[in-house]
Amino acid sequence: MANHGSLLFCYISYILILTTSLSCRAAEEDRKASVIFVAKESVSSMVYIVYMGSLPTGQYSPLSNHLSLLQEVVEGSSIENCLVRSYKRSFNGFAAKLTDRERQKLANRNEVVSVFPSKPYHLHTTRSWDFLGFSETIKRNATAESDVIVGVIDTGIWPESESFNDEGFSPHPSKWKGECKGGNNFTCNNKIIGARYYSSTSSDNMSARDHDGHGTHTASTAAGNKVEGASFYGIAQGTARGGVPSARIAAYRACYPNDCQGEKILAAFDDAIADGVDIISISIGPYIAVANFSQDVIAIGAFHAMEKGILTSQSAGNSAGLIASVSSVAPWIFCVAASNIDRQIIDKVVLGNGKTLDGIGINGFSLNGTKFPLVLGQNARKNTCSTSTSEGVCNAGCLNSSLVIGKIVVCDDPDADFEASIAGAVGSILKNDPFDDIADVFSLPTSSLSVDKYDIVASYLNSTKEPQATILRSESIQVGDAPIVAWFSSLGPNYVVPEILKPDITAPGVEILAAYSEIVSPSSSSQDMRRAKYNILSGTSMACPHVSGVAAYVKTFHPDWSASAIKSAIMTTASPMNATEILAAEFAYGSGQINPTKAVDPGLVYNASKEDYINLLCSLGYDEKNLRLISGDNSTCPKVSTKTLARDLNYPSMTAMVSPLQSFNVTFHRTVTNVGFANSTYKATTFTNSEVKIIVEPEVISFTSVNEKSSFVVHVTGGQGILPNNYSKASSSLVWSDGSHSVRSPVFVYALSN
Ligand SMILES: *[C@@H]1O[C@H](CO)[C@@H](O)[C@H](O)[C@H]1NC(C)=O
Ligand SMILES: *[C@@H]1O[C@H](CO)[C@@H](O)[C@H](O)[C@H]1NC(C)=O
Ligand SMILES: *[C@@H]1O[C@H](CO)[C@@H](O)[C@H](O)[C@H]1NC(C)=O
Ligand SMILES: *[C@@H]1O[C@H](CO)[C@@H](O)[C@H](O)[C@H]1NC(C)=O
Ligand SMILES: *[C@@H]1O[C@H](CO)[C@@H](O)[C@H](O)[C@H]1NC(C)=O
Ligand SMILES: *[C@@H]1O[C@H](CO)[C@@H](O)[C@H](O)[C@H]1NC(C)=O
Ligand SMILES: *[C@@H]1O[C@H](CO)[C@@H](O)[C@H](O)[C@H]1NC(C)=O
Ligand SMILES: *[C@@H]1O[C@H](CO)[C@@H](O)[C@H](O)[C@H]1NC(C)=O
Ligand SMILES: *[C@@H]1O[C@H](CO)[C@@H](O)[C@H](O)[C@H]1NC(C)=O
Ligand SMILES: *[C@@H]1O[C@H](CO)[C@@H](O)[C@H](O)[C@H]1NC(C)=O
Ligand SMILES: *[C@@H]1O[C@H](CO)[C@@H](O)[C@H](O)[C@H]1NC(C)=O
Ligand SMILES: *[C@@H]1O[C@H](CO)[C@@H](O)[C@H](O)[C@H]1NC(C)=O
Repeated sequence: MANHGSLLFCYISYILILTTSLSCRAAEEDRKASVIFVAKESVSSMVYIVYMGSLPTGQYSPLSNHLSLLQEVVEGSSIENCLVRSYKRSFNGFAAKLTDRERQKLANRNEVVSVFPSKPYHLHTTRSWDFLGFSETIKRNATAESDVIVGVIDTGIWPESESFNDEGFSPHPSKWKGECKGGNNFTCNNKIIGARYYSSTSSDNMSARDHDGHGTHTASTAAGNKVEGASFYGIAQGTARGGVPSARIAAYRACYPNDCQGEKILAAFDDAIADGVDIISISIGPYIAVANFSQDVIAIGAFHAMEKGILTSQSAGNSAGLIASVSSVAPWIFCVAASNIDRQIIDKVVLGNGKTLDGIGINGFSLNGTKFPLVLGQNARKNTCSTSTSEGVCNAGCLNSSLVIGKIVVCDDPDADFEASIAGAVGSILKNDPFDDIADVFSLPTSSLSVDKYDIVASYLNSTKEPQATILRSESIQVGDAPIVAWFSSLGPNYVVPEILKPDITAPGVEILAAYSEIVSPSSSSQDMRRAKYNILSGTSMACPHVSGVAAYVKTFHPDWSASAIKSAIMTTASPMNATEILAAEFAYGSGQINPTKAVDPGLVYNASKEDYINLLCSLGYDEKNLRLISGDNSTCPKVSTKTLARDLNYPSMTAMVSPLQSFNVTFHRTVTNVGFANSTYKATTFTNSEVKIIVEPEVISFTSVNEKSSFVVHVTGGQGILPNNYSKASSSLVWSDGSHSVRSPVFVYALSN
């Protein structure tokens, strides 16, 4: 596996710089060729998002309202040039180019919730569904499934992919209110029923066509057709399919190369909600969580989606296992971590002495078994490059073509395949990062070896005058150690609301085969001329659409369930993970690994309404004015004495932070709704470790009808307190069982070191 960036293809392809835009005035001046003035002005104004909450009811024209608001604050004549776009279909607000003074004036207006910069966001199979026990023959309701619409906010989609062929699909469901506005050379069909894009720049970009691959990959994982015999050059061969193969897809292209701005993502939410999608899948996020929900476009969009019963599933982020790095933190969003499956892709090297070494990598090339001479990168260096670097390092632009042509270069850095291909080598053998066990797609025949195996190659090089080797095409092997959360997956705690556990769940996100864009190379290297219909990627971006697909699947059985009920069903039926194997425990995997077949029949759900989330905003300090703008009604916060704590939000997991090594007594209030048998009795069982004690009151709850509710209290105490940063010891759970359903919630009281 190569470096962290290229490993998560989704990660590097969007390393963005905040583009400073011209102010409206500057843009006008520009036409008068006042170049210097433009340069000066361009630093002081940029695109801001002005969030105004819910759409007012009754007679209200958002666009003219936005323009007149701008008219009042903008110190120039042309308002139209300031306005970037209006949000007016599902919530109220706009994006505009503003100076700092204009921004401040707007922020002080009564009708405005928040004004914040439009920041850059980042993009963060076959076997995976079978691994989850979700086989091709699972119980489905094809009629109901074909009425489900999955909205994918991403880099667009490749409409010609076999995964989106509409053969056998009826016309779109009657509830669909969207359109096909895919732009240049883009045709929808009865599978991809809607497409939109949010660019205003170059003509090639005036399309919902995926120029990256990421969006095609995620859309096909969530809802792609069954496609037999899919593979990447024969690797990971099998039937590619989404979680709901009969469902429809609406694609919203909000991310462009070097341009994945918040104002576009918010526009995609505005449309997706109004178009009538059932589930929103978004494998995009900020690098670090946005500290205030009213400044986070994904939290804002997902809130208004939730109001309409639409669940948003988002990737946790790929922050390489740093504590508190999870970037999706809002309780109304489903935050997904990435774990592996029981398949691993390996890449063998056969040395001239016959020794075979298993490497890591996705090598789709065949050298036909021919052995080629080996050369150490250090010995193939241009004489213009420094010789001080360590043995085998292949620095950028430093390989001498005439010394590597026709040979396999041996380099001790993990992403030198690019250098090797530029220099014209036949292949490369690389040294892998020790912690990184995930395979990347290489741009030429390459295998990445662990340190000990790399050393075997190094000694072999010394042992013979004419060292030779060949690299085989990659193959899949079965591994026992699964599911394990991937090393790159972002971890809790939730640093915005520490008493809401994030991530919520884990799903397969390692070496996932899915459909791809045919306009880019599968390795994303400009040296790689191949184009592939299916590609293998890793990232929480790949895990998120698995959960979107399962949410859509649950929705086909329970079309009237709220977004939080669907989320609860998936969380409480998840397969528990082994806390002793993963240091960060629940901070890595939340409730555990999704179990789609169980999720349709959870027995009980932890439901939450819009009012519950409004109460949560109260506990986070929102004032009444902003609260009412957001909710669009006359919501009030409960009186201080009855104020709900964040940990009392009716959430399917329970978490609280306590001081290290001090005794504690934490209480959680919860209410479950019976969605199982009308007459049923559930008994509480707790699983704890020596550090905590859990008491549930009452321990038995009974129901006589469906949709009946029952409340209970959970006290978690610890006389000795909790060791800081020792998460696996804090890992506990509560399970309600009626003999046929198990409704499990992690109970995770943790302490951080100071
Ligand atoms: C978040 O922003 C809203 C509106 O801008 C404000 O009312 C609230 O106090 C902020 N919350 C925090 C915790 O800063
Ligand atoms: C399938 O879903 C439809 C609603 O779309 C419903 O009318 C029908 O009864 C369901 N069939 C089964 C077998 O559950
Ligand atoms: C439309 O896109 C497809 C796929 O890239 C391409 O083959 C075709 O030539 C394009 N047609 C036009 C008119 O650009
Ligand atoms: C698409 O737009 C981005 C900026 O938004 C630009 O960098 C890129 O060159 C454009 N791509 C094409 C193919 O026009
Ligand atoms: C391997 O064989 C194929 C088919 O004979 C050929 O096209 C290809 O160039 C060969 N590759 C190498 C590296 O010799
Ligand atoms: C590359 O190697 C060739 C052959 O050894 C040598 O003649 C040439 O000077 C080298 N070029 C550079 C830039 O090192
Ligand atoms: C290979 O030989 C070189 C020089 O003779 C020596 O510096 C190096 O340590 C040797 N490497 C190994 C892996 O034996
Ligand atoms: C959950 O609450 C919503 C209202 O917020 C309600 O419409 C729904 O019926 C409740 N139950 C389920 C299972 O979704
Ligand atoms: C969890 O992992 C540990 C260490 O690998 C092992 O000893 C234990 O049996 C596992 N527990 C379960 C329930 O699988
Ligand atoms: C809020 O209450 C006022 C006064 O009772 C009423 O006029 C208004 O219509 C209400 N607004 C909403 C959105 O319910
Ligand atoms: C914890 O607090 C609850 C009330 O909040 C009380 O009923 C319970 O006895 C306490 N438990 C311990 C062990 O102190
Ligand atoms: C539930 O149990 C009660 C009392 O035992 C009985 O009267 C009622 O018919 C049962 N309801 C169902 C739906 O089985």
